[in-house]
Amino acid sequence: MEIAVTVNGKTYHHDVPSRLLLVHYLREQLNLTGAHVGCDTSQCGACVVHVNGKSVKSCTLLAVQAHGAQITTIEGVATDGQYSAMQQGFWEMHGLQCGFCTPGMIMSASALLQNNPHPSEHEIRHALEGNLCRCTGYENIVKAIQYAAQNNGHGQSLGYGGSQSNGSDAMHEETKPESPETPAELEHPRRDDGTPEKPATVADWEGENAGASEDAPMQQGGQS
Ligand code: FES
Ligand code: FES
Repeated sequence: MEIAVTVNGKTYHHDVPSRLLLVHYLREQLNLTGAHVGCDTSQCGACVVHVNGKSVKSCTLLAVQAHGAQITTIEGVATDGQYSAMQQGFWEMHGLQCGFCTPGMIMSASALLQNNPHPSEHEIRHALEGNLCRCTGYENIVKAIQYAAQNNGHGQSLGYGGSQSNGSDAMHEETKPESPETPAELEHPRRDDGTPEKPATVADWEGENAGASEDAPMQQGGQS
């Protein structure tokens, strides 16, 4: 079936199978792989995108059902190479570990703040009930969203890459706080945290641990 969808501000026309899920259309046809597939049961929320401004699990929608829709994926959230307030919140508050759930978390959380700019902690946790994270325990995710709520409108917007208006265009004009220039820089941060170099050899490791109790637990990953 012929569909026309606007994704992150760009309109696409494709002939798609009627049974194709939106998430597979985004990932495989448009190569937008930020929406993840984490389950077969519509439970994990890793696939959340915005369809006409509402957060939607893209594994629950057929591509043909999105015909004519405005879609925003995680790839469309940053504006001019600058992270949105929500993305910055996840960075600042370390709201992720493996990162698999993160695109869906950010999309769900952004939708929350669109409707409720200053949610309580209970409201944040309630809004994330459809998003599962196997790593973080959710604490830092909640802090990330609280960070975004505090900073949204104070130099950082919730995003949308300029492709969709959220009714607050003025937010995009404010001066943004200092942050790394591009997402690419953020992907490989350099931190001098004083962590000693890992011993190069087992002999080095044994030298460093000379005199340590024989009952001391084995160091994991100490051998290459
Ligand atoms: S892939 Fe798990 S809810 Fe969509
Ligand atoms: S950070 Fe790993 S699943 Fe959430």
